[in-house]
Amino acid sequence: MLDKLHTLFREVQDASINTEEDLEKFRIHYQGRKGVLAVLFEEYKNIPKDQKREVGIDLNALKIMVQTRIDALILKFGPTEETPQTDFDLTRPVTYMEPGPRHPISIVRNQIIGIFSRIGYTVAEDREIEDDWHNFSALNFPEEHPARDIQDTFFIEKNPDIVLRTHTSSVQIRIMEKNQPPLRSIFPGRVFRNEVISARAHCIFHQVEGLSVDKDVSFRDLKQNLLYFAKEMFGENTQIRLRPSYFPFTEPSGEMDVSCNICGGKGCNICKYTGWVEILGCGMVDPAVLENCNIDSEIYTGFAFGMGIERITMLKYQIKDLRLFFENDLRFLNQFKGVL
Ligand code: PHE
Repeated sequence: MLDKLHTLFREVQDASINTEEDLEKFRIHYQGRKGVLAVLFEEYKNIPKDQKREVGIDLNALKIMVQTRIDALILKFGPTEETPQTDFDLTRPVTYMEPGPRHPISIVRNQIIGIFSRIGYTVAEDREIEDDWHNFSALNFPEEHPARDIQDTFFIEKNPDIVLRTHTSSVQIRIMEKNQPPLRSIFPGRVFRNEVISARAHCIFHQVEGLSVDKDVSFRDLKQNLLYFAKEMFGENTQIRLRPSYFPFTEPSGEMDVSCNICGGKGCNICKYTGWVEILGCGMVDPAVLENCNIDSEIYTGFAFGMGIERITMLKYQIKDLRLFFENDLRFLNQFKGVL
């Protein structure tokens, strides 16, 4: 019966009613003396006791839904002789539609925002279609860098180059161009790379960038902020490890690993038996980048970091295939019911 009701929900919502005649047919079909609702209420009497509550809720919802559609259409066509004015009640509760769960990427993005806002970071967003200056040049990417290649990046226009941004680091430039320090913000958003889609990579994904620029900002501050983040996100016992790395716009640069939250650092297939998993890139903002944004690098220093939200989500909820985030399969998404 539940299945039947769910099909009927859709039928009622999708029924095409264009004329008063259609409306009358619809009304008789559902509300008539031998109509769909009457038959269902008759069948309801024989439903086993333990299912009565669940079925009853949906059956009532269907009844309200039918009436709501009729009311809306009466407004459009005006009342007919068969539909007395008294049937139309503006105070009637609206049809209850159960809200869907939040998408896991939104859940984790909100968690990241929550963690950083507790230590004074504001949130900013900017455009996904960027010019070469903001996505590459101002960030010190040399002319021949592979990311500037058409194989790696989606170009919207060439000469001047307009691209789908390949990282949220472009927002660093947007923010620093318009504001002088002190700055302390995170930038969540969607980014694009010309990747072959697999269980571990996609051409669309999400990042959160962080930027802090002020007098006397040091690597120690960066490390402390990231340690705080790791413990809040993965648990109090989480440890971090920074490895030297290279990004054109930070110097020195690092990549950060967290102790594997699945095996607690003992070694498992998620951390490839190393006990560590990489979660982000970071470093001190290169003075040339500050100067590109008219910030005096003799007075100010800063740090930046960038992480993939998909990766954090996969680790946190032990999701093995990144493609699941983009398929909108309710069997996957409904597992996040109730998580805020
Ligand atoms: N933008 C880098 C990436 O997408 C990450 C990063 C951000 C590294 C900020 C350092 C500082 O890989």
